[in-house]
Amino acid sequence: MSLNIVILAAGSGNRMQSNLPKVLHQLAGVSMLERVVNVAKELEPKNIYVVYGNGGKQLTQTMQHLSVTWVAQQHMLGTGHALQQVLPQLKDRDQVLVLYADVPLISKKTLTSLLKSTPRNALGLVVAEFNDPTGFGRIIRNEGGNIVAIVEHKDATKQQLQIKEINTGILTTTVQHLKEWLPRLKNKNSQKEYYLTDIIAMAVEAGFYVGGALAHCQEEVRGVNNLHELSQLERYYQRQKAVELMRRGVTIMDPTRFDLRGELQIGKDVIIDINAVIEGDVSIGANTTIGPNVVLRNAKIGKNVTIKSNSVLEDCTVYPDCQIGPFARIRPGSVIKQNAHVGNFVEIKNATLGEGSKANHLSYLGDAVIGKNVNIGAGTITCNYDGAYKHKTTIKDGAFIGSNTELVAPITIGEKATIGAGSTITTDAPADQLTIARSEQISITGWRRPRKDKSA
Ligand code: UD1
Ligand code: CA
Repeated sequence: MSLNIVILAAGSGNRMQSNLPKVLHQLAGVSMLERVVNVAKELEPKNIYVVYGNGGKQLTQTMQHLSVTWVAQQHMLGTGHALQQVLPQLKDRDQVLVLYADVPLISKKTLTSLLKSTPRNALGLVVAEFNDPTGFGRIIRNEGGNIVAIVEHKDATKQQLQIKEINTGILTTTVQHLKEWLPRLKNKNSQKEYYLTDIIAMAVEAGFYVGGALAHCQEEVRGVNNLHELSQLERYYQRQKAVELMRRGVTIMDPTRFDLRGELQIGKDVIIDINAVIEGDVSIGANTTIGPNVVLRNAKIGKNVTIKSNSVLEDCTVYPDCQIGPFARIRPGSVIKQNAHVGNFVEIKNATLGEGSKANHLSYLGDAVIGKNVNIGAGTITCNYDGAYKHKTTIKDGAFIGSNTELVAPITIGEKATIGAGSTITTDAPADQLTIARSEQISITGWRRPRKDKSA
């Protein structure tokens, strides 16, 4: 017997009020569908099927990297009908686990306890207790406390609406049972749909045990129907991540203003100030401080680094002991070596800034290799683009670039060379010498400013 997972994703998602298919909306940077597929994968099933309908083309194209089998549901006739579309592909003796693509935070823990607690040949549900169960199917139990049916909110009697135990929609049983029960579903209900939940009463009638595994927390079984509900789950998720990090020795100045949209590896005694946004694969070494409003995307940050407020770092590596920002922008392909300083309004792209080098103010350094202990004066620009091609700038160890200098690439500045402020350098500058390229200063004696003629 092997496990197959079916993810239902065909719903129309009208209440999202969006042109994007519902399950492509992201939670912490990953689409809801991908999140559910990722949990499914952790259970190591034989196969994962995704039932899609609305926005099918956009869905299958955007998500083509997922290793799942796509199954189209032509008409949205209900959850039972959706599951039925997959049955022809399944072997009778296999197990099926049904997940919903719009329940993005479902955990491996809850799913594992469902699978473990459901005996072979039985049917198992994930259930939860909600103070406000509005909208959910209610679990009906008999006097002995056994589950006997599910009644949808829209079909429930006044008395049944009082029940706080709800159906999360997640269930497991064998293919053989589904092949018996699903074709017998009727759509005689308020929504004229073939409800998957009607198989519970069928199972009970046929003498099978129906188990209810309690979800480990409420949020993980909450579905998303509109963008407000999505934002609530997003905040819950971010809070969990912040708590996890704080427990591991990270200082987060305000956990309600912390956003992780990817994977973060982090050392001890890191301080993260408010409004940090961390995306993709990020690592931060011990004792590093991240200032307010910093964005880190696929960045590798060493230990003892200070990143001051409002800096944006993307696809780059920062070695230990560096000082970055405030207002620094480090773009893809950049490497900032140990103990280097990058100050305010400095943009670095596809460039290496060597050990101990400093670019403290107002500069653009692109397609450059800058050696050790180089000083880049304020207003330095590497002119890397001629309108058609990009060219490289090389600045050797110990060079000093005076303020307001243009380095027209391709160009090499020699070791310990000095460039006079205000120069436009167009050919290589030799080592150890002062190179200066600006018009000579003159003073004109007896010169007068023009004055307005008051008699006119
Ligand atoms: C369903 C359950 C309800 C449960 C609730 C939990 C049924 C009949 N009811 O209700 O007991 O409390 O989920 O959130 O199952 N879908 C398809 N094809 C369809 C219809 C739906 O793929 O034809 C997919 C949707 O994309 C969604 C999921 O199935 O991912 C649930 O469908 P939805 O219509 O939202 O069911 P609920 O009314 O919320
Ligand atoms: Ca729903």
